Amino acid sequence: MKIDILTIFPEMFEVLNHSMIGKAQENSLVEINTVNFRAFAKNNQKHVDDYPYGGGAGMLLMPQPIFDAFETIKGTKPRVILMDPAGTRFTQQKAEELSKEEQLVFICGHYEGYDERIKTLVTDEISLGDFVLTGGEMAAIAVIDAIVRLVPNVLGQQASHVDDSFSSGLLEYPQYTRPQEFCGMRVPEVLTSGNHEKIRQWRLKESLRKTFKRRPDLLKKLTLTDEMTAFLAEIREEED
Ligand SMILES: C[S@@+](CC[C@H](N)C(=O)[O-])C[C@H]1O[C@@H](n2cnc3c(N)ncnc32)[C@H](O)[C@@H]1O
Repeated sequence: MKIDILTIFPEMFEVLNHSMIGKAQENSLVEINTVNFRAFAKNNQKHVDDYPYGGGAGMLLMPQPIFDAFETIKGTKPRVILMDPAGTRFTQQKAEELSKEEQLVFICGHYEGYDERIKTLVTDEISLGDFVLTGGEMAAIAVIDAIVRLVPNVLGQQASHVDDSFSSGLLEYPQYTRPQEFCGMRVPEVLTSGNHEKIRQWRLKESLRKTFKRRPDLLKKLTLTDEMTAFLAEIREEED
């Protein structure tokens, strides 16, 4: 996968050179390039922003530097993602969809936002959530991290994302590691039983329980199996 990022703060993306995403770059599973669109500003002061027509507070990113920077990106038909609090809320499903693309281009805003004409370059407008950041960089970093870890072989054989929260439509079940007892708190017995079917059932039920208690909205979107329906009935009784 190739990722190009249009930004006026390329140094912020240094964080992607660490941990799993750093390794993915070292192993050539993903190539991440930044393009500083300030370098394309045609005015002497290298300004990339200007006052909004009609008045109002703040400055807007001008179209010209972004259009010219975009022209230099090589590739055919990349998905072009604009980071914008007014975009579609980012989800695990969107991360899965974008992880299958060969090339992604991110455009990071700043100041009060963009000249609307910049949106003609864009295929997807993505918001990280219902809050306003100072710029698109941190939002793009989070989105890129969520996408790249789904690219085949990035997580390696030891780790898997299939049980992650949201991948199955449920929140992830509680997990434990050694020691078996810590400060008087014991690991649930079933997890040390070696009975794989019982462990699978316990995990499914606890996933359902966590989702039922914290994110009942997710359950409404799921097609429940008979087993899930039975577990949910038990959970409703247990939690009453
Ligand atoms: C200060 S914000 C502009 C907010 C804009 N005036 C508005 O009300 O929608 C500057 C830039 O940060 C980025 N940004 C801020 N919040 C974001 C969010 N929740 N998701 C994605 N990008 C965000 C966008 O690129 C945005 O253009």
